[in-house]
Amino acid sequence: MKILFLASEIYPLIKTGGLADVAGALPVALRKKGHDVKLIMPAYQNILEKVAPIQKTINLGNPFNRGDLLLLETHIPESDTPIWLLQCQALFEREDGPYVDNNGIDYEDNHIRFAALSWAAATLSLHGNLIGWQADILHLNDWQTGLAAAYLKSWKVKHIPIVTTVHNLRYNGSFEMSKFADTHLSAELLDMHGMEFYGRFSALKAGLVYSDAITTVSPTYAKEILTSEYGDGLDGTLRSMQDKLHGILNGVDYNQWSPEKDTIIEENYSLNTLDKKQTNKLALLRENSLPEDLSQPIFGVVSRLTEQKGLDLLLEAMPALLNKGARLVLLGSGDKHLESAYLKLQEDYPQQVAIRVGYSEDYSHRLQAGVDALLIPSRFEPCGLTQLYALKYGTLPIVRQTGGLADTVFEGGDKPNGFVFHDADVPSLEAAMVRCYDSFTSEDASFEEKQRNAMSYDFSWDSVTDQWIELYESLTRE
Ligand code: ADP
Ligand code: GLC
Repeated sequence: MKILFLASEIYPLIKTGGLADVAGALPVALRKKGHDVKLIMPAYQNILEKVAPIQKTINLGNPFNRGDLLLLETHIPESDTPIWLLQCQALFEREDGPYVDNNGIDYEDNHIRFAALSWAAATLSLHGNLIGWQADILHLNDWQTGLAAAYLKSWKVKHIPIVTTVHNLRYNGSFEMSKFADTHLSAELLDMHGMEFYGRFSALKAGLVYSDAITTVSPTYAKEILTSEYGDGLDGTLRSMQDKLHGILNGVDYNQWSPEKDTIIEENYSLNTLDKKQTNKLALLRENSLPEDLSQPIFGVVSRLTEQKGLDLLLEAMPALLNKGARLVLLGSGDKHLESAYLKLQEDYPQQVAIRVGYSEDYSHRLQAGVDALLIPSRFEPCGLTQLYALKYGTLPIVRQTGGLADTVFEGGDKPNGFVFHDADVPSLEAAMVRCYDSFTSEDASFEEKQRNAMSYDFSWDSVTDQWIELYESLTRE
């Protein structure tokens, strides 16, 4: 099957969160099973340095008056995945992030930037002759790509089936109506059963409404988003289209994320050499100039610092654990007030807390290998990948029971692999952390047993790609 896969970030070319990991790995897993997947993404600043030499350039003209849209054919060297990069200097070549500037403010022309990306993908899905390759399925991801479904609807042509994957419903890509004309979409789409959203227009809603199937990244989140608590104003829309909604759990690329193969960590280890995890713990303590004491647990965090992740709760719960002797090592960036509150915690507990504000792929690996437990107290979590990475590294996740966290981390049952709490409040989080602390410091074997369980779970892409293939096949049969 031929799948045209559209995403606004793809690891290892550019990454701000889990979407990039998924867009970098699912296509590779599908290709391994014999399917022909091609990617499309913007040619952001410096991207061309990270891909193979350009093989072909196709000019799609200047439909948005921001300069010609050029499609550059190349592939991602590490995985050999074919990719089309959409180049347009005025839209995509910026010094700052892919969506926001360095102050965290959305670019004012995001609606045009991602309209252009979506328009290009819609065009290619219709006119395979332009690239000598006709897709059978168009697979969209998150709001940045939702307008592709709107273009195909607007053009009133027969088109290939569209799948829209929701990685995070909170980001609905909605814009004020005055910007709608810039998209050159037909105003017919603006009714409440279309892409109108509380007086604005929403690119994500367009993706939901005009696609043939909607998927989201875990079975539990697929149920949660049908409720007003988690639906972010789109639950009514989703309830009305439940028959096309599927929850398929994300996978992990264990070539990138496993302590046996990881080339970044201090010392490799596996289920049979779990004691070598200690070398990584020591290295992490040393790297952060913390006392090299192995008798106390280290709690870790690798996260965007946003409301979603519940790290404001952790700020309040942490002192009780620090007073017992535990340590905290955090890597994250995002909300400025959270960044400074964590830096303040480090000032208050300089021997126990190490905060790194920023983004570092390498350090995130060393952290996963070096800490004993990873904290993910999310208010909502569509899937979550860091808990899956933690499990493989024998690092026990402490999670709130929501979304993909609820589907992958278990405190009880046949094969417990972490610590789970239910309510998004400080006492519940703190109690789970204390259970983890007590288990770590007690003489019994329960902590290590959980580590061994954790490492033996299989959340590889291989375990879920068949669900994707089944879904694509069901759509092309219709
Ligand atoms: P989300 O996509 O909501 O941010 P996920 O758990 O799905 O959450 O994915 C987050 C991804 O981003 C993981 O690969 C994680 O390791 C990575 N990550 C998050 N923050 C940082 C950071 N500050 N430095 C390096 N990697 C980070
Ligand atoms: C989103 C979600 C996260 C999910 C990721 C990849 O960023 O917040 O839970 O794992 O997308 O699907």
